[in-house]
Amino acid sequence: MPDPTQKPRIAIGADHAGFHLKEAVKRFLREQGYEVQDVGTDSEASVDYPDFARLVAEKVARGEADLGLLACGTGIGMAMTANKVPGIRAAVAHDAFTARLARQHNNANVLALGGRVLDEPTALAIVREFLNAQFEGGRHQRRLEKIAALENTLQETEQAARSGNHGA
Ligand code: RB5
Repeated sequence: MPDPTQKPRIAIGADHAGFHLKEAVKRFLREQGYEVQDVGTDSEASVDYPDFARLVAEKVARGEADLGLLACGTGIGMAMTANKVPGIRAAVAHDAFTARLARQHNNANVLALGGRVLDEPTALAIVREFLNAQFEGGRHQRRLEKIAALENTLQETEQAARSGNHGA
């Protein structure tokens, strides 16, 4: 469990379409005293967003970072990929309200931003809102447990299918 009195450690990643936003967000976070682990990409040369979403999501899932921030053109591909990693709850937000609710209700541990959707001030406002909001627990905890139960069931089914195949 991250210490709530400490600033969360943040893993950040982007593809070429989110690169400029990643750099702006990284600068902002470091100015605010956050520890930021940047997994790339390092330029606007074309790359594949799943490679970077996976690196950030795995850091969060392994506990090497408390939260992840991702940027691609829309945020969508990054969130789709990050949500394949067990334990990750990634949300796309294009406004501050959605970003706040993503923490308060969904306890999102990864935020995905759209570099082709957001201007820099809006993106920074979204990131601020996401980082300052707290999970509200209560009925929302029960709902997250249902997501986790579904994830576990699907993993168990997959494992059972794999060991069945070995026996055949
Ligand atoms: C890259 O052109 C673009 O498809 C990607 O950045 C992202 O928007 C995908 O969801």
